[in-house]
Amino acid sequence: MAEVNRRSSPLRKMNVLGLLCVCGLVILPTPVQAKTWVFAVGGNRRPWNFIGDDGVLKGADLDLIQAVCDVANQKCATTVVPTEACVQTVRGRFYPGEGLMAGWFDACTSYVSSIDRVNALQFTDPIRTTTSTFTVLQGNPKNFDPLNLQNAVIVHLNGAFTNEQCTIRIGLGRPKAVLVAAGIAEAKELLLNRTADALFSPRTTFNDLEVLPGRYRCDVSGVGMMVKKDSELPVWWNPAFQKYYMSGRYNDACDQINQKYGGFPVHNCLPRPTSQQGIVGTGSAPIRKRQNRFVVQFTQI
Ligand SMILES: *[C@@H]1O[C@H](CO)[C@@H](O)[C@H](O)[C@H]1NC(C)=O
Repeated sequence: MAEVNRRSSPLRKMNVLGLLCVCGLVILPTPVQAKTWVFAVGGNRRPWNFIGDDGVLKGADLDLIQAVCDVANQKCATTVVPTEACVQTVRGRFYPGEGLMAGWFDACTSYVSSIDRVNALQFTDPIRTTTSTFTVLQGNPKNFDPLNLQNAVIVHLNGAFTNEQCTIRIGLGRPKAVLVAAGIAEAKELLLNRTADALFSPRTTFNDLEVLPGRYRCDVSGVGMMVKKDSELPVWWNPAFQKYYMSGRYNDACDQINQKYGGFPVHNCLPRPTSQQGIVGTGSAPIRKRQNRFVVQFTQI
């Protein structure tokens, strides 16, 4: 009886606690600031991320990053980098950009997940949908036909997921030749001086060029945050994004994007969630999550 009393006496408990506290103070290192997750944007995609006439970086991507980071209680920041820091095409193949691999930042914002890219990198759950199209000069003067790719010269942008590997995957075959342009301006020049027959890209509108009606699927699961395979970012981002999306605030923000930032008409947000639903895609084909990650459907609407 006395033994029991002695063991559980308040004084002894306090001593043990005191000892733990002292040890704790001695062992614990000085508290460090929580990690800041840095999201890279190109800064040239209005309304998603762009540098305004006032020189300030802004856009719907930045709003989304802030909202999801707030839900997750994570510290986040954005930076601006050229596209090549995230993606590059070397000898006709996709390779990850040095900036992402070397850890200059944690994530490349709003990149389409594609077969080539998931070989090298991983993606968060989709934040938007995407599609792939062929663009030609007004009136299609060279009579480009996607079903006759074997006789056509295609241009795509450096590092694009709309590439030769995709035309082969979706059953259109290998183009006669594939050119890689550094940007839209160069791709347009190649169309205008008749070096290329068509631009293969995710764009659905151009002011001065004609986007053909075919819609193709080169993506695995839409648009997400692209990170290294060893990144912990998806661990907190995915549940936080899901929470933000299911709250309806994702779609409320989407509805306001063009009003707030102008730019290309927004048409590829995820559909509003229904009550017992998770994230699904819209458009030409449903976004397949995890279970069919590597199945790409040939879909044309
Ligand atoms: C067409 O334009 C591209 C890109 O500016 C240029 O490199 C190429 O030399 C041009 N070709 C001709 C035939 O003018």
